[in-house]
Amino acid sequence: MLTLGIETSCDETGVALYDSERGLLAQALHSQVAMHERFGGVVPELASRDHIRRLLPLTRQVLDEAGLAKSAIDAIAFTEGPGLAGALLVGAAVAQALGYALGKPVLGVHHLEGHLLSPMLSADPPAFPFVALLVSGGHTQLMQVDGIGRYTLLGESVDDAAGEAFDKSAKLLGLGYPGGPALAALAERGQAGRFDLPRPKLHSGDLDFSFSGLKTAVATRIARGLPDDQARADLACEAQAAIVDVLVAKSLAALRQTGLSTLVIAGGVSANRRLRERLADAALRHGLRVHCPEPALCTDNGAMIAFAGSLRLQALIRAGAALPQPGAIDVRPRWPLRSLTAA
Ligand code: KG4
Ligand code: ZN
Repeated sequence: MLTLGIETSCDETGVALYDSERGLLAQALHSQVAMHERFGGVVPELASRDHIRRLLPLTRQVLDEAGLAKSAIDAIAFTEGPGLAGALLVGAAVAQALGYALGKPVLGVHHLEGHLLSPMLSADPPAFPFVALLVSGGHTQLMQVDGIGRYTLLGESVDDAAGEAFDKSAKLLGLGYPGGPALAALAERGQAGRFDLPRPKLHSGDLDFSFSGLKTAVATRIARGLPDDQARADLACEAQAAIVDVLVAKSLAALRQTGLSTLVIAGGVSANRRLRERLADAALRHGLRVHCPEPALCTDNGAMIAFAGSLRLQALIRAGAALPQPGAIDVRPRWPLRSLTAA
């Protein structure tokens, strides 16, 4: 079964073709980073308009790359939420229109389910059950994953997400948007230990996170003055170390608590090199398996939506259930993951 996946929840237009027998056939991505950069963050109206410009050319591109015609598409999966309402509507409208035109099923996919299952697209896919650390611009969650749609929340951020902590610290340091990769790059030139930053909730005994205090600590330190570029790099390095310390400690605690030995990381922040190194170290020391998807699958992309959609559609087929037919252009900008049902 050939599924076209469409991702337009934020500032990336992603399209991909996933075949249930042959795997990922083609994917294409357009990042709006350059467009939003001068505004210091995502401008929702500009994001929607750009998705309109990009979506059909990218769809044509993946079909050409796979050497297939539109008529070969068996189903269409699109990100229904959570995300920016206007941006999501573009993907939903194109998905439903294509579904009507081709007479094929259309399925709305939960963006975070896409992230959660994306490690299974990698060369060495993890097996259920596993613990997932989902770290993106909007979410920081530890989840027990027992199967498709069988997710138990173990802990989450009570305030800022890990990606937000990166982005806000980067902004305070005068770095551009998106801040995560920029802060990580500056941190490469710095040394940890020169500044003292908090590791919020490190010893709280639960699996929740809090990152807003870290941003305040970075702001306070900057307000006292940083003498030179090396000091900026050292502060970036310490901010990254503080975030990574907490993410690693809580992930290991989640594995202990659940008795599981496989950890999967997903979401934009899981592209962070330092986080990956620290988790790989811990895996060696504690005899754990850590799955890190390829960096291209960590940030938003169409492949994860095509894949998650395909898994859900195949489960419906196996159960002999009706497939969702094209219908109204509905999106869910706020859509709790816990409301999903098992496939
Ligand atoms: O999953 P994602 O692409 O979009 C959301 O669904 O939010 O995640 C974006 C987040 C941003 O906060 C970005 O700064 C962060 O992921 N990010 C990184 C890195 N690459 C992206 N944070 C730290 N290090 C990176 N290398
Ligand atoms: Zn995302």
